[in-house]
Amino acid sequence: MSLLKLDIYGVRNIQKESITPSPAINLIVGENASGKSTLIEAIFILGRAKSFRCSTIKSVINFTQNHLVVSAQTVQENGSRLHLVKPYGIADSFLGPTGSWQLNQKRGTSM
Ligand SMILES: Nc1ncnc2c1ncn2[C@@H]1O[C@H](COP(=O)(O)OP(=O)(O)OP(=O)(O)O)[C@@H](O)[C@H]1O
Ligand SMILES: [Mg+2]
Repeated sequence: MSLLKLDIYGVRNIQKESITPSPAINLIVGENASGKSTLIEAIFILGRAKSFRCSTIKSVINFTQNHLVVSAQTVQENGSRLHLVKPYGIADSFLGPTGSWQLNQKRGTSM
């Protein structure tokens, strides 16, 4: 699977960012505490539904928010495209199909 576009909302110090990665090699460069590991953490959450830095998703949510959302447009090995959305609330729970959020002026539903 490769990422065409990644939207991150409320993940640690990343309040709201959209990234369009290169299909080849991507370098993540920045000062200490700028959010490099947080970017990798967001991608990990997308695939594994948990953090690699802590046991609860709650501590990954930005201090000023009550939820996070990681969303990605992906291309599967067979060439098909899939839109993944992972929203989590402070109650440690997946928000589920009735959870609603807004990202980049668009409302979303989970899958
Ligand atoms: N829940 C949170 N809400 C807001 N900010 C947070 C939260 N958890 C951690 N932070 C802050 O987010 C930043 C995380 O930075 P991160 O570890 O991703 O940076 P980095 O670029 O990987 O740094 P380094 O070069 O030291 O590895 C730190 O400033 C940290 O204090
Ligand atoms: Mg780091």
